[in-house]
Amino acid sequence: MNFELTEEQQAVRDAARDFAQSELLPEVIERDTEQRFPKEQVKQMGELGFMAMMVDPKYGGGGMDTISYVVAMEELSKIDASASVSMSVNNSLVCWGLEKYGTEEQKQKYLKPLASGEAIGAFCLSEPEAGSDATSQVTEALDHGDHYILNGTKNWITNGNSASIYLVIAQTDREKGHKGINCLIVEKGMDGFVVGKKEDKLGIRGSDTHMLSFTDVKVPKENRVGEEGFGFKFAMSTLNGGRIGIAAQALGIAAGAYELALKYSKERKTFGKPICEHQAISFKLADMATKIEAARLLVYKAAWLKDQGEDFSEASAMAKLYASEVAMDVTVEAVQVHGGYGYVKEYHVERLMRDAKITQIYEGTSEIQKIVISRSILND
Ligand code: CAA
Ligand code: FAD
Repeated sequence: MNFELTEEQQAVRDAARDFAQSELLPEVIERDTEQRFPKEQVKQMGELGFMAMMVDPKYGGGGMDTISYVVAMEELSKIDASASVSMSVNNSLVCWGLEKYGTEEQKQKYLKPLASGEAIGAFCLSEPEAGSDATSQVTEALDHGDHYILNGTKNWITNGNSASIYLVIAQTDREKGHKGINCLIVEKGMDGFVVGKKEDKLGIRGSDTHMLSFTDVKVPKENRVGEEGFGFKFAMSTLNGGRIGIAAQALGIAAGAYELALKYSKERKTFGKPICEHQAISFKLADMATKIEAARLLVYKAAWLKDQGEDFSEASAMAKLYASEVAMDVTVEAVQVHGGYGYVKEYHVERLMRDAKITQIYEGTSEIQKIVISRSILND
């Protein structure tokens, strides 16, 4: 067993850290306040290869392993979780799914621009009445010979407006339940496809989360990913990897808040000494550091299992469940360590605390992760 990152993984970490400091940190507070998508920054991330890190170089990707990906996700999430969720969706939900299950034509047409940073992708499963209970989604893709006719509404879609390529999960044969669901590639600009209202959110306010509506959208059959009826399995299989990305995001949010709290605790003095010399504060820091390290090990383990070609669904659910709880706990404590200063925007930790909450909700809530984990351990 080896706990060290390789030289290549360390180089990825350093590049991601530098990029986050130089390009994401400036104006991160303003983007949060104004709910402004980090358009320029995400474009740069595409050019630098962060948006398709694991994609085969023959399609323009970085050809890297999943450990490199989570290391980069952690570094970017320390500074800007709105930028990193774009990266996570593009890498692990959209590019991974297309590369694993798409046809060669789909890879040439859609994966290449997604890998080069020319296009951004979105993954559209949730609906107003179906989030956790994903099989009960009602968006319909009816079979019309050489094309499907798509009707319905998707909710909460990350990269909702900034994307141009959308993977839409829809029901073709209701009687077949989850085996009657397909995944279709929908392009922005297709007739009947409308990007709807933008959500006004607690956290990740720079991320553009939109409702999408589809009215009689004609989607060619060649845009179906995988066999007829594979859409739900496609979504579940893709989410197994997506959850590793979100777990790494949660880890980064926690680590970012911890680093700020550690630094502040050495600078701020009360009762004649730095606050880190009060045991109540130093014990908080010890708890934070321990939880972060445990979360990091779970995230790396899930990423490693994926790289080994082993089943990683249980490991990714455990990593997301634990890392998201750590993100919440640590960011709340980081605000506490900062006292009143923690409550204002300038010190960043209040934003990290607001951003942390979403990691317990999207890509399967904590309760859903417990369903995945308990089913897995009970079936062993
Ligand atoms: N990996 C692979 N296959 C899986 C799977 C997994 N983790 N979970 C379920 N499946 C398969 C099952 O094997 C089954 O297939 P078979 O019938 O062929 O065996 C099929 O999927 C249906 O499974 P279940 O009977 O277990 O389905 P269920 O209705 O009980 O639901 C669930 C299972 C785990 C709760 C699932 O609905 C779920 O994951 N819900 C959460 C949805 C979610 O995570 N949404 C995220 C949206 S994307 C997003 O949020 C992005 C973002 O924010 C940035
Ligand atoms: P519900 O499913 O209604 O759950 C409500 C509560 O009940 C939760 O606490 C849940 O854990 C609990 N619950 C539900 N069922 C059970 C059960 N069986 N046992 C125990 N507890 C249960 N979706 C996409 O498809 N693509 C995206 O890009 C995307 N991005 C998102 C971005 C943001 C900012 C947000 C807020 C959401 C995003 N989502 C996206 C949707 C997200 O995945 C769902 O919100 C999430 O899966 C929960 O679904 P829901 O909101 O319908 O809650």
